[in-house]
Amino acid sequence: MKKDLQSMVNVAVFASGSGSNFENIATSDLPLSIKVLIVDNKDAKAIERAKRLNVPYEIVERSGKTKEEFEAEILNVLKDKNIEYILLAGFMKILSAEFIERYDRKIINIHPSLLPSFKGKNGILDAYNYGVKVSGVTVHYVDSGIDTGEIIDQEPVVLRDDDTLESFEEKIHEAEYKLYIRALKKVLEVKE
Ligand code: GRF
Repeated sequence: MKKDLQSMVNVAVFASGSGSNFENIATSDLPLSIKVLIVDNKDAKAIERAKRLNVPYEIVERSGKTKEEFEAEILNVLKDKNIEYILLAGFMKILSAEFIERYDRKIINIHPSLLPSFKGKNGILDAYNYGVKVSGVTVHYVDSGIDTGEIIDQEPVVLRDDDTLESFEEKIHEAEYKLYIRALKKVLEVKE
């Protein structure tokens, strides 16, 4: 599918770390234009990816600010960019209910477990330590709870007895790359 400039959807991506999901979205054939990558951590590897991919980025750090000030700064970056969706891709800050209400059903997150199991920061490790035989990844709308919003799509990942934490992590990330694109196609009603 070709990207048609006329029908591009403007999005912002929020990330805190490696940014591999950000890069996966940025290099996909989805009809979206990443107007800005927002990172809350000046050391995030995602910044290097943004530079390489020519995606504009802004560093908005949380420290030394109230949550309101932090979010006001983010909103200021988003202002005038006609952002239709915010895509969270490993963004480690919890957004306030006020922020989420402004973008009701317009904020999407990827979580590395089959929700509602293993919510929270350590979805991969928690599932591994629990000893599950099947885990997976979830793409969902963000609501004011932690990893509780309506599920858009999920992809299972099977754990074999010889999987290590590292091999399991690798499988989860591969499933994430596939799922985030599939889920966004669903949201954006992209016809194959
Ligand atoms: C992913 O596992 C995602 O599910 C979780 O944070 C991780 C981000 O990885 N929310 P990356 O920064 O996209 O490489």
